[in-house]
Amino acid sequence: QDDQFKKVISHAKEYGYVFQSSEIYDGLSAVYDYAQNGAELKKNIREYWWKAMVQMNDNIVGIDAAIFMHPTTWKASGHVDAFNDPLIDNKDSKKRYRADVLIEDYCAKIEAKIDKEVEKAAKRFGDSFDKAQFLATNTRVVEYQEKINTTLTRMARSLEKEDLADVKALIEELEIADPLTGSRNWTDVKQFNLMFGTKLGASAENAMDLYLRPETAQGIFVNFLNVQKTSRLKIPFGIAQTGKAFRNEIVARQFIFRMREFEQMEMQYFIKPGTQKEWYEQWKQTRLKWHMSLGLGAENYRFHDHEKLAHYADAAADIEFKFPFGFKELEGIHSRTDFDLSQHEKFSGKKLQYFDHEENLSYVPYVVETSIGLDRMFLAVFSNSLKEETLEDGSTRTVLALPSVLAPVKAAVFPLVKKDGLPEIAQQIIDELKWDFNVVYDEKDAVGRRYRRQDANGTPFCITVDHDTLEDNTVTIRHRDTMLQERVKIEALRDLIKQEVDM
Ligand code: GAP
Repeated sequence: QDDQFKKVISHAKEYGYVFQSSEIYDGLSAVYDYAQNGAELKKNIREYWWKAMVQMNDNIVGIDAAIFMHPTTWKASGHVDAFNDPLIDNKDSKKRYRADVLIEDYCAKIEAKIDKEVEKAAKRFGDSFDKAQFLATNTRVVEYQEKINTTLTRMARSLEKEDLADVKALIEELEIADPLTGSRNWTDVKQFNLMFGTKLGASAENAMDLYLRPETAQGIFVNFLNVQKTSRLKIPFGIAQTGKAFRNEIVARQFIFRMREFEQMEMQYFIKPGTQKEWYEQWKQTRLKWHMSLGLGAENYRFHDHEKLAHYADAAADIEFKFPFGFKELEGIHSRTDFDLSQHEKFSGKKLQYFDHEENLSYVPYVVETSIGLDRMFLAVFSNSLKEETLEDGSTRTVLALPSVLAPVKAAVFPLVKKDGLPEIAQQIIDELKWDFNVVYDEKDAVGRRYRRQDANGTPFCITVDHDTLEDNTVTIRHRDTMLQERVKIEALRDLIKQEVDM
């Protein structure tokens, strides 16, 4: 698992997807830059989401609110008081960790043991293996599961009650150690606010304390009535947005999984009070379907219904994805009630009510939100796509089997040799195709090596111009995943590629 994750990180660097920020200064921890291919992949994921959420839904519109917001926003939203993580310092290593993450990691380790037991049993029993029955009856596995359940329930309860002494006691009882040094010398658990502060204004006396937004959602809430009035949308309707958010995360050691500066894709769906259960269920399913449409494998997703609810929610679930380091949250679906809008009414003194013509009454709408981290989605897609394949002839190839709609480069065009007019034809093909797709030219090395390079880069198609092209205007097009090659007319290329890469 660790090895696979290391491969993902080095592949992302080697192929121009993700670099550490300010690398020449030894980097800035938990901050990353998207390189030439990464920026394209990220943009394509964002567009794939936007299309599904905004373009395909008549009653959802998109906005782009500012990162800076009036500071009272964060008092109203509860982030000043309640956006905290429990932190614990290690006396020996002087490192600081999120207590809940340490506990979750501990549980993940037990879960890995369960997976091992299942694997062993599946091998032993072969076809007659019944996984559900095994999980329910094998005493060791049942014990492991109970341990996980009691640990997480106890943690959730103590966090909810802000009983930090109990969180500390739990860490001690479970004999959880510093993941880096193995030492168990913890000091007290403390609450730590995750918002980044900054100042607006030039002179020290008049400067206003601001926060960088820790979620994009509030930009939607404060604009709710403006958007509703100017769009004349009727409830139920949604407002979507993508944009940067900032959190002073303490444990940030899983590459782009948990960053300090990241991007969210959120949608707030405004509904009639009392209908939140149905909409919550519906959005859970709709979002899961969106994930399935990318073909990363149904077995890599699961729901996790929350016991511990954030300060604003009456129901919440995560869509978890199987990352190289185990199942972790990818997206959240939250039933936020009228918490945010009511709080903004209270703090701003402005009415944020919707007039329902059918019912002839005004009310503060309820909200169901879907919230996904773009960087996390990037990691899900990228890590799932990276494969080492053994071919029929025994050789291996590295392939980044990205969903074609998301691939940064859709086709690479090669002249078989660097002479006889073949490079010129290849260039003409590029000039044609680049109106519709990102395409690249490559003439270096043997064609086999060029294929491998594009496989590892995630490019779904390679097009080769050879001497037959001079005769009949046909080229070879090779498919990344199957490695099958076909001979097609140059004029047919555009439609052929479009069929596979269109969103
Ligand atoms: N508006 C609700 C909200 O912000 P959240 O569960 O705190 O809810 C939503 O965040 C999503 O944002 C998460 O499911 C995750 O994908 C992403 N996310 C949160 N913190 C992140 C971080 N530090 N780095 C990368 N992605 C993050």
